[in-house]
Amino acid sequence: MIALIKAVHLATLAVWCAGLIALPVVMQVHGRTPRVHTQPGFAEFRLLSHRAYTRVITPAAVVTITAGTLLFVLEGLRAPWMLAKLLAVAGMVLVHAWLGHQISLTGEGAGRHLIPSPLPALLAALAFMALTLWLVLAKPDLAPLAAQLPDWLLQPRGRALPSDLVPI
Ligand code: HEM
Repeated sequence: MIALIKAVHLATLAVWCAGLIALPVVMQVHGRTPRVHTQPGFAEFRLLSHRAYTRVITPAAVVTITAGTLLFVLEGLRAPWMLAKLLAVAGMVLVHAWLGHQISLTGEGAGRHLIPSPLPALLAALAFMALTLWLVLAKPDLAPLAAQLPDWLLQPRGRALPSDLVPI
């Protein structure tokens, strides 16, 4: 069972990572040239970016994270490298969300929205991916680093939630 979930995790993370590299390239090549201000150029860019984002890359991200969470629970992994990996994955999710935001602005702006350079997003995606892969493959011993964290991050505080945060 674990092997199957891990296979799904690896297959879909390959698609997600490929998407986080391909989307900034598509944005640069198709979304930031004068051709995007023509009807055929705009339609081509919208189809390419919107469909890839909503039908391939986002579903791949959701399945990767779901399968990873299942592995996390089933294997009972709580090592500091695993928690650091979750932070690196959060970075990938932020880049993913920013790319989606830009794609949605191009649709809502009917060709008037100028996409900023996607180069920082590409570099950030590559850095977060490399960090995630390094953490999970090298499994470095981060216990000494975790021990440097302030006490309030390491111990439960035992405080009640403020009343305005309690839903009922
Ligand atoms: C919230 C998201 C994620 C969670 C909860 C998660 C969790 C996990 C867990 C628990 C394992 C099993 C580790 C082991 O057996 O040693 C694993 C394996 C793996 N994960 Fe993730 N993961 C997530 C996202 C990612 C992402 C985004 C990447 C790549 C960029 C990635 C790359 C890998 C790789 C390469 C393995 C196989 C490691 C091995 O078998 O040695 N994961 N993941």
